[in-house]
Amino acid sequence: MFESLEIPKNLYPSDPRFGCGPSLVSTDALSELSSTGMTLLGTSHRKPKVKNLVKEVQEGLVNYFDLKNHDVVLGNGGATFLWDMIGLGLVENKSKHHVCGEFSNKWYKAHKNISWINTELTDVEYGQGLNPSDQDDCDLIALTLNETSTGVQMTGVPSVDSNTLTCMDATSGAGQIECDHQNVDFYYFSPQKVFAAEGGLFIGFMNEKAKTRALKIKEDSSRYIPIIMDWKLAIDNSLKNQTYNTPSISNLFLLNEQIKSMNVLGRNKVNELAEKKANHIYSWAEGKPYLSCFVSEDKYRSRSVATIDVDPKITVTELTKKLSDLNFCNGIDSYRKLGRNQFRISLFHNVSLENLEKLTEALSFCIESNL
Ligand SMILES: Cc1ncc(COP(=O)(O)O)c(C=O)c1O
Repeated sequence: MFESLEIPKNLYPSDPRFGCGPSLVSTDALSELSSTGMTLLGTSHRKPKVKNLVKEVQEGLVNYFDLKNHDVVLGNGGATFLWDMIGLGLVENKSKHHVCGEFSNKWYKAHKNISWINTELTDVEYGQGLNPSDQDDCDLIALTLNETSTGVQMTGVPSVDSNTLTCMDATSGAGQIECDHQNVDFYYFSPQKVFAAEGGLFIGFMNEKAKTRALKIKEDSSRYIPIIMDWKLAIDNSLKNQTYNTPSISNLFLLNEQIKSMNVLGRNKVNELAEKKANHIYSWAEGKPYLSCFVSEDKYRSRSVATIDVDPKITVTELTKKLSDLNFCNGIDSYRKLGRNQFRISLFHNVSLENLEKLTEALSFCIESNL
């Protein structure tokens, strides 16, 4: 269908990376990393140089998110790892899940596999959003700020009683989608999205209530919790600006560079830029007869991951393959398990509005010349 496709040179973006994770790592940060030469990579994570880097990451996040009641806890494993760590070490009896896509569903399934806790599910058809709510017999409410698979954002934080924890997977929204994060007991993310680092690390903001729960469960000696998932070790090491086991130092470096640059702008400005990109992409989709927004209600349309359905006359996978072969852009396919004829496009902070405008214009050009 697109064999002879040629895209005008003026529509080429300055960076082809529009994927929703791993995301657009800044090339400036990569140059900075290589300029550290023999002084950082290959040195010990128990010594001041790396510990200071971890401290800078933690302080940078406190500043960016204006954290007042949370410690920044980090460790190896990413968000997927935390689903089990939360199920094993933060849920007392029952967790409630709000599912609107593949990631919130995977978190639910991870808890379901733990036979000594119970789970409750509220779900909607993919493409719809929902308002999370508390439930009396649940002691942990699982929230997903941004469903990366469907492009649905769910910013509501239910108010809960003193025996219930709110826990939010903010992986692809943290940094540019607002919610009442000061009132989330454990808010966590992986850094390979808005924070433009690489995978393999988890970062969480943990308040006293969440720490108390973690320590209480740890003291219950009848529960087996793998050492690598021990909350006390994660918290104690983080307070000493370390991770329990050896981290990727280059990842911490890239993360720190991104936090520094986002702190120069501040959260409000970053959110504003995200809003502008979201406005651009959703109005583009609404203005073309061969496109439609997958998420029907505007309030649930993600400000960091846009999902746009395409007329079946155009096979999106053929187009995206051609665009990737041309090195025009990559990473804009629908989430694989969703299997829709859809573009899923990153609006993450490092994707500029200018490049996004070029991308949408070029996509229109490709589709219109093949309809
Ligand atoms: C919302 C959400 N949660 C969890 C994950 C899993 O993160 P990781 O691959 O770092 O474990 C992802 C990855 O894309 C995600 O988008």
